[in-house]
Amino acid sequence: MSSILQCPVCRKPLFLTTNGYQCAALHSFDAARQGYVNLLLAHKKHSKEPGDVPEMIRSRRRFLDLGYYNQVSEAINEITGVLLSGLGCGSDCSVLDAGCGEGFYLHRLKNFVDFGDKTRRPIEYHGVDVSKFAVRQATQRDRATAWFVASINDLPFLEASLDIVLNIFSPTNILEFSRVLKQNGSLLFVSPGPRHLNGLRDIIYPVTREHAAPSITEKAEGLFSLLTMSRLNYQLELEGSQTIMDLLAMTPYFWNINRPTKAKVAALDRLALEVDVEIRVFTKREGRATLTS
Ligand SMILES: C[S@@+](CC[C@H](N)C(=O)[O-])C[C@H]1O[C@@H](n2cnc3c(N)ncnc32)[C@H](O)[C@@H]1O
Ligand SMILES: [Zn+2]
Repeated sequence: MSSILQCPVCRKPLFLTTNGYQCAALHSFDAARQGYVNLLLAHKKHSKEPGDVPEMIRSRRRFLDLGYYNQVSEAINEITGVLLSGLGCGSDCSVLDAGCGEGFYLHRLKNFVDFGDKTRRPIEYHGVDVSKFAVRQATQRDRATAWFVASINDLPFLEASLDIVLNIFSPTNILEFSRVLKQNGSLLFVSPGPRHLNGLRDIIYPVTREHAAPSITEKAEGLFSLLTMSRLNYQLELEGSQTIMDLLAMTPYFWNINRPTKAKVAALDRLALEVDVEIRVFTKREGRATLTS
């Protein structure tokens, strides 16, 4: 299979070596002991350790492994499964999870696809996150997936090299997604629905406002067409302070709320809340288009 990876220094293809990747200009990137490869150049970092910090990653891992978001993952898997079936890609079918965190969704997608259809041609799975700690955790889930430390703002993939990009509760760069996707490739974008985490938000804020619609649809205009939009909504009953605090640590609220509010959440032993998630599928449009901002 030809390389789909792109050297972050010179933008030439990157090829697999015995201990990592190298381009024709001899820029080389060694695999870490844990199995991932760091393709984030030091001068492109906006902080010493960009992305989610270990505390958040550990909380996310603990919370997600309790199964509370399995329904979200199952909905993503169903939709991606249908997209994959319609692709008819040959031996070079590639999926990227952009902002993969600690690997929960991509790992479950891989298991779902692999168990669902043994006759399917192999699919290459790639996970990218700017947080080294997140990617380290992801490698523990699955060594067969190619995990990279890199930014969604400078994806280490060649132009038109990927079939599907997943972007789940993570920052978005629509121009980069358009660059790396093949013609008619799909972007699966997952974001909080209007009532997401109501119950928790009722405790944190005096007034619980609906989440605004994401700006992706306007940003995608000219580059992508919206194919489908679905909404998943269900109730959760969380038990135990650790689980409730883990959920809080997965959200931006953890950093935004003051100490007394955090203490109020920490004192809870039960919490009823809503999971409300929107899943949009966009198709990359033919031809080059200019972006409307
Ligand atoms: C809310 S978490 C979601 C993680 C995962 N998709 C999930 O739902 O479990 C957002 C993730 O985006 C990552 N992130 C933030 N900025 C990024 C960037 N510029 N490039 C890639 N990942 C980024 C963070 O490190 C974090 O893992
Ligand atoms: Zn290079």
